[in-house]
Amino acid sequence: MPLMKSKSKNPWLQIPAEDYERHMSASNVAQLQMLNKIFADVVNEYQPKSIAILGCTTGNGFEHLNNKNIERVVGVDINPDYISISKRRFETKLPQLELVCTDLNEFEFSNSSFDLIHAALVFEYVEVELLLAKISRWLRPNGILSVVLQLPNDTLAPVSETPYHSLKLLNTVMKLIEPEVFRKRAIKHKLKEAKNYKIILQSGKSFFVLLLQK
Ligand SMILES: C[S@@+](CC[C@H](N)C(=O)[O-])C[C@H]1O[C@@H](n2cnc3c(N)ncnc32)[C@H](O)[C@@H]1O
Repeated sequence: MPLMKSKSKNPWLQIPAEDYERHMSASNVAQLQMLNKIFADVVNEYQPKSIAILGCTTGNGFEHLNNKNIERVVGVDINPDYISISKRRFETKLPQLELVCTDLNEFEFSNSSFDLIHAALVFEYVEVELLLAKISRWLRPNGILSVVLQLPNDTLAPVSETPYHSLKLLNTVMKLIEPEVFRKRAIKHKLKEAKNYKIILQSGKSFFVLLLQK
């Protein structure tokens, strides 16, 4: 069984994995595919030996960690079903995979644990300042934090329209963060910008990828 830690009431617990994956990969959303590529790119560029994936859902992109000589891989998510699915899909091909079902607002890793911490579309749902402070401690010297933020859009709803209505629950909790605000907070926690880029999807939604180094 995956390790289970305490978690608070959270709308993510009411979104079935099937709805999540179908919504995120729907042709008018196409975010699952985008996130998969961002993760592959960061792993290939930085070649980490130890990696934590915060808000790992059902293991999107974990296939890029196969045969990479990575010593430690930890996936963290608040939803126990997502964690179980990640385990079922990847435990054989990725025997070093550890999965933790927990609320990131309450969880702690040891200091200097990871070369890479990946947090894609997660800061929208957590206490930003608190998690940045923790990540700064969890990273090894020169370690990388890769972040994906959804950019605010005046005309498009934050959660796109698809037949998977459970995703609408996220409208009540999702808080988009301006990159400039995020950057300032990261600097406060001793994380320096290494690189950034913007992705605009066909839907018109745009995303900001930010790589920060400790
Ligand atoms: C949009 S998804 C992340 C997408 C994923 N990172 C990817 O690259 O495909 C957000 C994830 O964060 C998880 N999550 C939200 N709030 C959380 C919290 N407080 N603690 C841990 N996980 C959380 C959700 O359960 C969900 O799986």
